[in-house]
Amino acid sequence: MTPPSPSPPSLDPARLPRHVAIIMDGNGRWARQRGYPRVRGHAAGAESARAIIREARRLGIGYLTLYAFSEENWQRPAREIRTLMALLKRYLRQELREMQENGIAFNAIGNLARLPADVQEELRRTREATQGGTGMVLTLALSYGGRSEILQALQALAREVQAGRLTPEEIDAARFAGALYTAGLPDPDLLIRTSGEYRLSNFLLWQSAYTELYFTDTYWPDFREAEFHRALRDYQRRDRRFGLTQEQVKSGALARMQGAPPR
Ligand code: FPP
Repeated sequence: MTPPSPSPPSLDPARLPRHVAIIMDGNGRWARQRGYPRVRGHAAGAESARAIIREARRLGIGYLTLYAFSEENWQRPAREIRTLMALLKRYLRQELREMQENGIAFNAIGNLARLPADVQEELRRTREATQGGTGMVLTLALSYGGRSEILQALQALAREVQAGRLTPEEIDAARFAGALYTAGLPDPDLLIRTSGEYRLSNFLLWQSAYTELYFTDTYWPDFREAEFHRALRDYQRRDRRFGLTQEQVKSGALARMQGAPPR
């Protein structure tokens, strides 16, 4: 496995976000602007995903989560959904070798049972074949909705209570987080949304409580390394306090609260 390469000089490698989450938006508008069919925008978007995954790995970012298909996206025209699914399957096949060579552990979150059987199978194979990767965890959110994720966690915990294996008082934030699709992933430090929309659109609602948000007008197919660096530089200028005062953060209270050094 290749070690992370140096950051561009303007980035502080010690203060990179541990987990970056991205809402990849604007493929359709990018295509329309050029007189192309929407699906061509998705194909160009897949190229951006490839570039950003590679760059995140190169920089040494530990976790990258991409919102590739929301629960609401099921309402799109059947032809567009079919193309997106085919694109995803092809992408996973094409990228497997590079993921393995670069120590990328692949993961998928969402209501995966709703995906076509062949896509589910490809996801399972990719996950298994990359399981040992220690360089970066790449998570694709597919058929994903934050509210549904919270509801299914709630139902799972309620079943535990009903069965007498858990008391309501034992349900704390850590246990709740452990029942979400993202169990085992740290909360995102930075969430990027492209295409000039300023909302979360049902993405990682619980997990984003203290996440830094970065919005750009750039459409996803045009979001490449330089713009990614801009988002990371912006993040590095933020003052993260998690509800504490600046003095408390300086005195190390945040590190004690989180059991880890402040990031
Ligand atoms: C949003 O653009 C994008 C999507 C719904 C799909 C995202 C998929 C990709 C980037 C390609 C596949 C990704 C991988 C990792 C293989 P939009 O269609 O909502 O754009 P619009 O808002 O301009 O219409």
